[in-house]
Amino acid sequence: MNSLRTHALHLAIIMDGNGRWAALRGQPRSAGHRRGAENVRAIVRAAAELRVGTLTLYAFSADNWQRPSVEVAALMRLFEDYLKKETAECAQQGIRISVIGRRDRLSPALRDVIEAAELDTADGRRLHLRLAVDYSAREAIFRAACRFYKATRVSRESFEELLGEVTHGAAPDLDLLIRTGGEQRLSDFLLWEAAYAELYFTPKMWPDFTAADLAIALAEYRARDRRFGRVPEAVAS
Ligand code: IPE
Ligand code: IPE
Ligand code: MG
Repeated sequence: MNSLRTHALHLAIIMDGNGRWAALRGQPRSAGHRRGAENVRAIVRAAAELRVGTLTLYAFSADNWQRPSVEVAALMRLFEDYLKKETAECAQQGIRISVIGRRDRLSPALRDVIEAAELDTADGRRLHLRLAVDYSAREAIFRAACRFYKATRVSRESFEELLGEVTHGAAPDLDLLIRTGGEQRLSDFLLWEAAYAELYFTPKMWPDFTAADLAIALAEYRARDRRFGRVPEAVAS
């Protein structure tokens, strides 16, 4: 099983359901986002323990700018606080932080915090944590395609390099995509990288998704037979 996998596991999570988690408790959406941010810390630690190689978390999509400005401001503040609080410990634990997505629409203060977090954790080899902020897979593919148009070297690899450049960091193909919150859609996340990803949807809201839930999802992933268009191994041999 999974014998075609040549790299350490790349897991991505669409952390959805913060607002509904709060609404179910009669609390404002911001309370859900706060709990969601706390949960990021726990799941990042769990992913490192479970020997995930790359973890890409969808924190804020390009379309999320359309939310009320107070909610957007609260999310940006939580993100900045997360980086400020977690960077030192991540560096200590061998967790490298990268932020993918557009940066030009973020505040200069947040951009500085991102750059500091990336610099301070650059040597981390245990887990590569990629936080997707102001991210749109379609836009990234489109921008890479525009650059590719002028490229002299034309190959899939060079296109993927450009895709990495426009999003501030390349990553191996996605192995497993988890979405919490019950919706079964990609919402413009990693469209290129997810070509052969296994999809795992859970009704649990993000603040309720635990390390044990992550272990269950990974166990299910490991039991799946990834074929990449080929026939099952037992038949081929
Ligand atoms: C995910 O939770 C967090 C972000 C999109 C930033 P939501 O805020 O989408 O929560 P629901 O889907 O409304 O419950
Ligand atoms: C996707 O969730 C984005 C993040 C989790 C950051 P949304 O809640 O924005 O997606 P839709 O609107 O349900 O598709
Ligand atoms: Mg949502």
